[in-house]
Amino acid sequence: MSLSTITEKLLRQGHGLLAADESLQTIHKRFAALGIEQTEENRRAWRDLLVTTPNISEFISGVILYEETLEQLTDENIRIPEFLTQVGIEVGIKVDQGTKPFSGHSPELITEGLDKLNERLTRYHDLGATFAKWRAVYMISSTTPSDVTLIENARLLARYALACQEAGLVPIVEPEVLMDGDHDVATCSQVTEKVLHHVFENLHLYHVAPENILLKPSMILPGKNIKLRPTPEATAHSTLNILRRCVPVAVPGICFLSGGQSETDATANLNAMKQISPNPPWKLSFSYARALQNSAMKAWGGHPKNKQLAQTIFSNRAKLNSLASQGLYKPSMEI
Ligand code: 13P
Repeated sequence: MSLSTITEKLLRQGHGLLAADESLQTIHKRFAALGIEQTEENRRAWRDLLVTTPNISEFISGVILYEETLEQLTDENIRIPEFLTQVGIEVGIKVDQGTKPFSGHSPELITEGLDKLNERLTRYHDLGATFAKWRAVYMISSTTPSDVTLIENARLLARYALACQEAGLVPIVEPEVLMDGDHDVATCSQVTEKVLHHVFENLHLYHVAPENILLKPSMILPGKNIKLRPTPEATAHSTLNILRRCVPVAVPGICFLSGGQSETDATANLNAMKQISPNPPWKLSFSYARALQNSAMKAWGGHPKNKQLAQTIFSNRAKLNSLASQGLYKPSMEI
């Protein structure tokens, strides 16, 4: 399949992405918080629950998986990637290998994963993946992000993206400006603008085709310690302003991460962007992990008997985000 066909499928109207690619450490943290046993079977069962939710392909066009899920089976003994392909959902794969302390630049983190990337991409492609993800993180403080972090993360994202395009996978380029801290909206705007300029300059330098990537940015928000939260309209304005300054119109789509926002905030903010700007230069949608999964995982609690209830909750959340991606969501639709 050509890269442009893959992006078209991922960006079809009223659809977004589910990030179900938490590393072992991250999913275990989520399980632990809910008293769910941290086992491989529970990771499989949770991901089976998400992908086999009835009619989820009405709202979700792609699911980003963690490496182990590529080889795991649904309850009906079908390989999860194969099942997704059968129901018309593109298979994505997290290819970075997580963040590590950036030596000499503590407390900043740098993303690892270029080692043997070409071979891994070929394998993922053979296992059914059509797109990939790499996440870089940026901390906001009086001394961060440092210039070196801006330069190095952008270089890594560009090298990863080029490798994906050469291997026939659409790269999701994910520079996440973290919400941790007590910074204001103006600081988040300034930092995000700098981050995105570095990223697009490097994508250009490394000859990555902007037509064949998806951008997965964070929204422009104050630090999570700030009590007074902006309205969805204010967030939409600040976020769109920065994206217009930095993202070439050749980029087909921008699928936001949720970054620790509540489920309803993430939905309302996306909706406000589509209402303020009904025809933006790029398709706008979602690629949420927590904002799609939190309530459903809580309802499941690791118990097979709760599978159907959790699927209903997940399906409803996906539907509300589908509506938000079209500017059609209303808070009164929340149950
Ligand atoms: P959240 O939506 O929970 O921020 O996760 C998105 C993601 O894929 C992080 O890499």
